[in-house]
Parts: sequence; structure tokens; C-alpha cells
Amino acid sequence: MANDTLLKVSNVSKRFGGVQAVNDVSLELGGDEIIGIIGPNGAGKTSFFNLISGLFPADSGTIEFDGKDITKTDLPTRARSGIGRTFQVVRPFSGMTVVENVMVPVLINHPRPSVARAKAMELLDELGIADIAERPTESLTLAMRKRVEVAKALGTEPKLLLLDEVLAGLNSREVTDVLPFVTRVRDRGVAILMIEHIVAAVMEVSDQMMVLNNGQVLAAGDPQDVITDPKVIEAYLGTKHTDDTIASNIISEAEQRGSESNA
Ligand SMILES: Nc1ncnc2c1ncn2[C@@H]1O[C@H](COP(=O)(O)OP(=O)(O)OP(=O)(O)O)[C@@H](O)[C@H]1O
Ligand SMILES: [Mg+2]
Repeated sequence: MANDTLLKVSNVSKRFGGVQAVNDVSLELGGDEIIGIIGPNGAGKTSFFNLISGLFPADSGTIEFDGKDITKTDLPTRARSGIGRTFQVVRPFSGMTVVENVMVPVLINHPRPSVARAKAMELLDELGIADIAERPTESLTLAMRKRVEVAKALGTEPKLLLLDEVLAGLNSREVTDVLPFVTRVRDRGVAILMIEHIVAAVMEVSDQMMVLNNGQVLAAGDPQDVITDPKVIEAYLGTKHTDDTIASNIISEAEQRGSESNA
């Protein structure tokens, strides 16, 4: 394992009954990297995250994190060792303000409430959302709740953050607002694996991309190479195309988002 590799997943697989949800998937992530993961519904993306976070064990394969083999460790141990995640369905603790929501994970490492509150405020401030600290989470837009979800995931001070569709359900203006938030988290020294359906948005922030399809890695590497890979185009369009239809769609999607954000 190279010195700067934070996460090394080797040939992990997971079967649920008759469904091979994850099939021989490998990935290597540096400590300051963002890898974007795309793929159709049911491709195994969330299941892959569940194997990394330790929600369930892999049937086979190994996972090394921060220089240690964590393949056999449970979810709380992995969380303590520095793996944080958001969930595809955002569920803030109701009846609580934003800062109180963020305090919950912070309390794990900082049990004194006054300290936890100060740490949570510091985090909100660094992420640029200190202004909503005292708002009840029920009053927030989905885009704001997604940001609070990221702040909560950072509350346990992870080295790796797994983001499962934090942009889903947002309009293109909100996506443009939330994307820099993801790079800001990375700039705080947190490596990121990011599952998204909005390909142009993933491309904008990812150092590498991986495409999953039927539980398998269809393509991985440089984002531009990945989205122009004929296998990826075929999986997305369902038929063989030799032109760059997907690439040009993605580029026009990106251009449109760019012009909206400048408007
Ligand atoms: N806990 C589970 N028990 C049984 N089957 C599961 C479980 N989790 C996932 N699966 C199955 O594994 C396959 C992959 O699902 P997964 O949720 O990982 O896909 P996904 O790529 O995250 O899809 P989406 O884009 O819709 O979120 C699906 O067929 C799903 O039904
Ligand atoms: Mg999913």
C-alpha cells in the first residue's frame, strides 16, 4: 500500500440471495482525493459503501484503511477509526436545531456539552453555514439539510467521508451551491468517495471516477476517459454507440449549469 493511500479495497463481493450486489470491486483512494462513483439504479453503489463502512461484512475480498486491515472489524470500530458517511435518505434529528444535530456525533469524542457545542459551531463556521446554527432542521430546504447531513458526518472527525447522493433532489442552482461545499470538506483534509447520478457534477469535483454496473466495475480512472469509454456509454444508453453522445450531453449539461450559476 503506497504511503499516501488512505483506503485500499481489494476484490470485495457481496451477494444477497440471488443478487450479486457487489462483484469483485477494487479501489484505491489517496488521503486528499475525491473519487466519484456513478452507475445505474441497483448497480451496487450503496452496497459498496455499506461494505466499506462495515454495515455488513464482505463475502470475500479485503479492505485496508489508514494502514490497517479492517476487513473483519465492525461498524462502530470503523467509525471510530475515521470512516464517516451520509445516508441516501436524509433524516435530521427532529425537534433540534442545526447545531444540536451536529453536536450529537461530536459528543462521541467530546462528551462535555459545552465543548461539543463549541466544536459543532466551529465546524458549521468552517463549512460556511454558521448562520443557520440556531434554526430548527424542520425549517430548512433540502439543500440546507444535505449540508447539515455532511456537517453531521464530519462531527466524528473522519479521515474518509462517504457521500451517498448528497446532490439528489436538488435543482441545478442548488447543485452549483453545494458542490464547492464538497471540495471545501476535502480541503479540510478529508478524503471523499461520492456517489452521484449527476455525472457533470461528479466530473467537476472528482480526481478519479468509477462506474459500477451490475455490481461490477465497468470503468475507472481519469474522469474524462471514463465518461467517453464506449462500455460506459453503452451501459447508460443501453445500446452500442461509437460517437461521444454521452460526453456531449454531459458537456452541455455542465455548460448549462455554468451559465445558470453565472446568471
Ligand atoms: N440489504 C439488502 N438486502 C437484500 N438486497 C439488497 C440489500 N441491499 C441492496 N440489495 C440489492 O442489491 C442490489 C444493489 O443495490 P444498491 O442499493 O447497492 O444499488 P445502488 O447502486 O445504490 O442503487 P440506487 O442508485 O438506486 O441507489 C439491488 O438489487 C438491491 O435490491
Ligand atoms: Mg444507492
